[in-house]
Amino acid sequence: MKRSLIILTSLLTITVHAQTTHDWENPAVLGINKLPYHATLQLPSKEKECQEIVSLDGQWLFHWSPKPEDRPVDFYKEDYDVSGWDRIAVPGNWQTQGYGTPIYININYPFVRNRPSVTTEPPKDWTAYENRNPVGSYVTFVDVTKEMLSKNLILHFGGVHSAFYLWVNGQRVGYSQNSMSPAEFDVTKYMRAGKNKVAVEVYRWSDGSYLEDQDMWRLSGIFRSVQLWVRPLVHIADYHVTAIPNDDYSKFTVNAKITVCNTGKKTAKNLLVQIQMACPELYGVNINPHHRNITNHRIAKLRAADTVTVELTYHYDAPPRLWTAEKPWLYPFTVQLLGMKDSKNDEEFAYHFGVKRVECVGEVFKINGKNVKLRGVNRHDHHPRTGRYVDDATYEKDIALMKQANINFLRTSHYPDREYLYELCDRWGIYVMDEANQESHGYGYANHEMGEDPAWKGAHVDRAESLVKRDYNHPCVILWSLGNEGGVGPNLQAMYDTVVALDSTRLPFYDCHPRYSALHDFGYPTPDVLKAEAEKETEKPLIAREYAHAMGNSMGNFQEYWDVIYADSSIAGAAIWDWVDQGLSLPLTPSNWRGNPDAAKASPGGGRLEGAFPNGGRLEGAFLYGGDFGDQPNDGNFCINGLLAPDRQPHPHYYEVQYVYQPITFKRDEHDGTIRIVNRDCFTDPSEYDITYDTLRYGSETLLNVTARLREDKPWAEKGFVVAREQFVLQSWEWPHPARLSTPLSEAPLSSGRGAGGEAVVGGEAVTINGNTLTSWIVDGREVLQGPLEPYFWKPENDNQRAAGFARRVAEWKEVKDVTVNYTIIDDRTILVEMDYQPTADDRSIIPKVGMRMRLPASYTQIRYYGRGPWENYPDRKRSAFLGIYEMPLSEYETEYIRPQDNGNRCDIRWFEIASATGRTLRIEGLQPLCVRAWDYGEEDLDAAPRHAQDLQRGRFVNLNIDLNIHGVGGVDTWGQRTLPQYTIDGNRPYHYAFILCL
Ligand code: GAL
Ligand code: MG
Repeated sequence: MKRSLIILTSLLTITVHAQTTHDWENPAVLGINKLPYHATLQLPSKEKECQEIVSLDGQWLFHWSPKPEDRPVDFYKEDYDVSGWDRIAVPGNWQTQGYGTPIYININYPFVRNRPSVTTEPPKDWTAYENRNPVGSYVTFVDVTKEMLSKNLILHFGGVHSAFYLWVNGQRVGYSQNSMSPAEFDVTKYMRAGKNKVAVEVYRWSDGSYLEDQDMWRLSGIFRSVQLWVRPLVHIADYHVTAIPNDDYSKFTVNAKITVCNTGKKTAKNLLVQIQMACPELYGVNINPHHRNITNHRIAKLRAADTVTVELTYHYDAPPRLWTAEKPWLYPFTVQLLGMKDSKNDEEFAYHFGVKRVECVGEVFKINGKNVKLRGVNRHDHHPRTGRYVDDATYEKDIALMKQANINFLRTSHYPDREYLYELCDRWGIYVMDEANQESHGYGYANHEMGEDPAWKGAHVDRAESLVKRDYNHPCVILWSLGNEGGVGPNLQAMYDTVVALDSTRLPFYDCHPRYSALHDFGYPTPDVLKAEAEKETEKPLIAREYAHAMGNSMGNFQEYWDVIYADSSIAGAAIWDWVDQGLSLPLTPSNWRGNPDAAKASPGGGRLEGAFPNGGRLEGAFLYGGDFGDQPNDGNFCINGLLAPDRQPHPHYYEVQYVYQPITFKRDEHDGTIRIVNRDCFTDPSEYDITYDTLRYGSETLLNVTARLREDKPWAEKGFVVAREQFVLQSWEWPHPARLSTPLSEAPLSSGRGAGGEAVVGGEAVTINGNTLTSWIVDGREVLQGPLEPYFWKPENDNQRAAGFARRVAEWKEVKDVTVNYTIIDDRTILVEMDYQPTADDRSIIPKVGMRMRLPASYTQIRYYGRGPWENYPDRKRSAFLGIYEMPLSEYETEYIRPQDNGNRCDIRWFEIASATGRTLRIEGLQPLCVRAWDYGEEDLDAAPRHAQDLQRGRFVNLNIDLNIHGVGGVDTWGQRTLPQYTIDGNRPYHYAFILCL
């Protein structure tokens, strides 16, 4: 008895200790006076046509305080003078406009973990020490007419991070958290004719931040649009439309639940609610034109302050045109609320529905009855200039680039994005896993703290409800995700129940426990593990909601994943981590940053970039990552994991995704040469593409390139765009043979130097060989070499390798061992180089690369080669890079990764030429396929680990690596997994290779 009492008291003490009086540190207060969540009423692309919307976006007055105690407490009052305040762009984050410090952190909270407090004293070096919980005070003024005042006025905030209070004309209206979902307030009674003061006080962190611990830049402010909705007193509060085919797809049923509310003081009479189809001919055959109205419903009376939901159902006796990502067929409609007597308060919103079915049949995931494979990607809502606000043009660019890469599945990791993104996915065709803004990773993956604490149940449910209720009318949504890396327990069960109750036409998903998920998740498997997991799983389909960590130079073994996925019908698919590098490119430099608002004022537009990357060009300057702003604690460049750079320039590995994800695979029969087409899509016949082939002849080699192209323009690509391609070698390259070499090139070799040590000077001092090293080569009186040609087995790490301790494991290869090089001087312009590696031990580690390097004067800048390209490729990532003759400057041959690392390799090179500005060309011919890298800096420059490409010292020489083979880039994760064994180089067996240098 006594004992349990003690436990009870100590528990109580803890609870009391962490309790504060602030709404923003109280998980029981999720909002004050917020209107219920509801569906996006008007399609975002048609918002401009909606007369009810007044945009409040623009420059607002702004004041930033490092901690709550410093904030201007009375700023919302009408007589508080804000005329001297700064101006800030809304929508926008304040950190990207020069206020406070952007913090990039992955798992840990940026403040001391002590829920619900976000202001517990952190270590002194944390950003949150001085800036304990920054507050942004915003003011704008809105003109309201008498006519508007007779209506219902709603202030709509698309997204505010992380919590805010709202005042209108000095009166407190309400409070909200849950930062990635809209918050709405009825402000009618606070508004007056003329100028109105709108004041918003935003807290960087709140108890809500405990559920917003996503791996991303932690940014704050009013980052999505603010609108004033001027609504009829009686209006459509919400509508939910479903469109489901019957079992044999011969008919379909459309159901609409429309909620109408009366915000006025009088009873409304004789209303008509209806859904009107925009063009009946879209219904296909056998649809009777007088069935244009799904049906309608009369509301005889709706009393003041009442809300009613009417349900309209229509059964179509004709087969639907189905919505799929391949063929995103949409039925446009308008939802209308009409007065029977007059039309002055009529309402109408434009939307669309798509007919589809999503289901799991045993362990098979199906869309419209077909075992669709989800070729997926994860995407954070990120813009290098505007942070968490991403403009329409960038959305269009993103979705177009996804479609072009044959991606058909997008996970909106890890929160709902802006509404327009979903409309694009509806229209252009992308399956979407829409994710709730719920992650408490700082308490651990599948933690019990957040999942079981009853005080946090409401906060969890709020996030599920706001997700589904905003987006349920988007045909693109196929899965509702309860969040990412959060808790498990009753709070998750409650989220699950909420999602399932709100929408039965999509499936629930959760990564932390299959109990809350229609699909079983397995993140970051190797291809073999994926295969084994799928074989084990017998109850549910398997998905890898994250796989193929695309950090830096990555995405090796991508085809291996898809060999597994296509071979097993229980694997629904997988989504790459992730779409775009989260680098920031601000007009401010880190040195003048450090929370200095003056720096922002000095920069045009306050750091805001209008539109998406004007001229489609690259952004100049460094992309900044964790730590670059002095942010503490931080996780460095772990946010740079994209298929694209922050300015949406594809990285080389983007193209490998495009190839592996292509909807058609071509196979060629070795015997009769027939090409077979394997269709990976479910709703498109290959005959719908233009399939053509080209025979190419390069020297002795004959290649066959087959392509499938779009037959018509699409919103995301023009007619002729290549959606699938393959290359076959019909007749192989004839490699030069050493025995045949000496004769045609010169009567007899002038001499040959053996790698026995000691110096050999040959050909009248033209060539100097020192042991295995060619130290000097003089042609036409000029030295060719700036650094010797020498055997060299070292290669700097890329991000995957760095995380897997590569440099440490293979450190022995900083010195070459057991190598003999033989130089045959064929003439003074031609040298045959032959290298042998004969291990004298049997416990060697794997070799980073087998080959040689040399340095040329910096004037060698133009490259032409016959091999795989045009983009960078490595042994485990070369399928998308076809053989061809490619020409480019050295600057394009290299890949500039945000954090400098190994890069730029090309495989299967037959010959390689590099020309100097002075007209000299060095030609390298392989006696077998070569791997070649060329940089205007050295290995030592990368090994010094500069943080940014801009920190590299370039241009002193050209560093050329001419190799037999190189270690693959890896492509599983960036926290320990190694390059697959088949793409590593065994150090315990001999190698021989050769090439000819020719000037
Ligand atoms: C995942 C997580 C992502 C990201 C990724 C690593 O486990 O869900 O948010 O942190 O790891 O880049
Ligand atoms: Mg995480």
